[in-house]
Amino acid sequence: VSLQQYNTLGLAQSCQALEVIESKSQLVTACQQLKVNNTPMLILGGGSNVILTADFAGTCLQMNSKGIEVHQVDGGVELMVQAGEDWHQLVEFCLAHGYYGLENLALIPGTVGAAPIQNIGAYGLELSQFCRSVEYLDLESLTFKTLNNSQCEFAYRDSVFKHQLKEKAIISAVTLFIPNDWQPNLSYGPLTHLIGTDVSAKQVFDCVCATRMSKLPDPKVLGNVGSFFKNPIIDGQQFAELKQRFDGIVGYEQDNGSVKVAAGWLIDNAGLKGYQQGAVGVHHQQALVLVNLGGANGADIRALAHYVVEVVERKFAIRLHAEPRVFGEQGEISL
Ligand code: FAD
Ligand code: EPU
Repeated sequence: VSLQQYNTLGLAQSCQALEVIESKSQLVTACQQLKVNNTPMLILGGGSNVILTADFAGTCLQMNSKGIEVHQVDGGVELMVQAGEDWHQLVEFCLAHGYYGLENLALIPGTVGAAPIQNIGAYGLELSQFCRSVEYLDLESLTFKTLNNSQCEFAYRDSVFKHQLKEKAIISAVTLFIPNDWQPNLSYGPLTHLIGTDVSAKQVFDCVCATRMSKLPDPKVLGNVGSFFKNPIIDGQQFAELKQRFDGIVGYEQDNGSVKVAAGWLIDNAGLKGYQQGAVGVHHQQALVLVNLGGANGADIRALAHYVVEVVERKFAIRLHAEPRVFGEQGEISL
């Protein structure tokens, strides 16, 4: 089965079988079967954060379970959302119902079930600030379990689902808490001009959408997975030294004194913005985004990624790490 339309990079790779999951009971049955047959499984939501470098020798489960339950609770509302719901549609749903707070996370592609895995974030907010609990299918016992916020071990583009629970859990639902007392978060670059104005949640939403559309390519037009690399976190001393040599370098100081460096700036200033190599390239507006120019496969994108890592490391002595998840024939691999 071709997976080309199931991954937003549009890489031409396939899997042996594909099952669309619409409910929790179907999920359990499918996993039981795969376990009995010892078949490798690949979980996909919207495919907006995966790099399929080869044809997958197993079954792909595509999460499509729907449902949003709203409960009024002390100080706000709780939303229990099934994994297959579309994240951006959830943001729109909340805005329409007056549950304000998620607007900064508008237009992030993909499903609600994938959102906790890398703790999606943008424009000064992260999912972790709203996530009350995550329900998942434990693949060992084939029973559903729930983690509270602290058990999820959220960090920048990180959670327990990338560590202890990697390959052991399938997220079935996410519960968010949206407090009643909304305050706009206008801390991030393009939103700061709204500070001091009587801004509405809808205006924040519109500003985030407009900013994103102006620099991030639409995967339907040009295949991509958003940021291809994480913004590397280096120690303050190393950043100060780099700043001496590269005046314009962009970094955000963290609470512990380390600095999160803008990888897009590094790639751009290594001269790679707009660079093309066969069917793939570095986006000409946002160097952190690698794009499929048409007809690329996994090997093409991997070769370009390696080249970018090498050039950046040579110039800045910083090693970039992939932000999306990379899959080979049998399962997850490193870039
Ligand atoms: P997929 O790509 O389908 O899967 C991602 C990983 O999660 C895979 O390892 C998969 O096996 C696993 N997985 C998926 N669903 C489940 C499940 N239910 N249970 C267990 N494992 C699962 N991310 C940000 O954080 N901030 C951004 O601003 C942002 N902007 C983006 C812009 C563009 C144009 C694109 C293409 C991507 C962007 N991303 C961003 C990345 C992406 O949107 C997120 O990582 C998103 O959460 C991926 O969701 P998905 O459903 O597409 O996951
Ligand atoms: N920059 C350049 N050249 C470039 C790209 C960026 O100089 O080609 C500079 C910008 O001028 C800016 C800085 O780098 O000063 C940061 O750029 P931007 O605001 O575009 O954000 P980013 O760090 O590249 C991160 C997230 C995005 C998220 C935005 C907005 C990561 C890896 N990426 O990107 O998330 O949408 O901030 O909050 O943290 C994703 O994860 O897929 C993603 C798109």
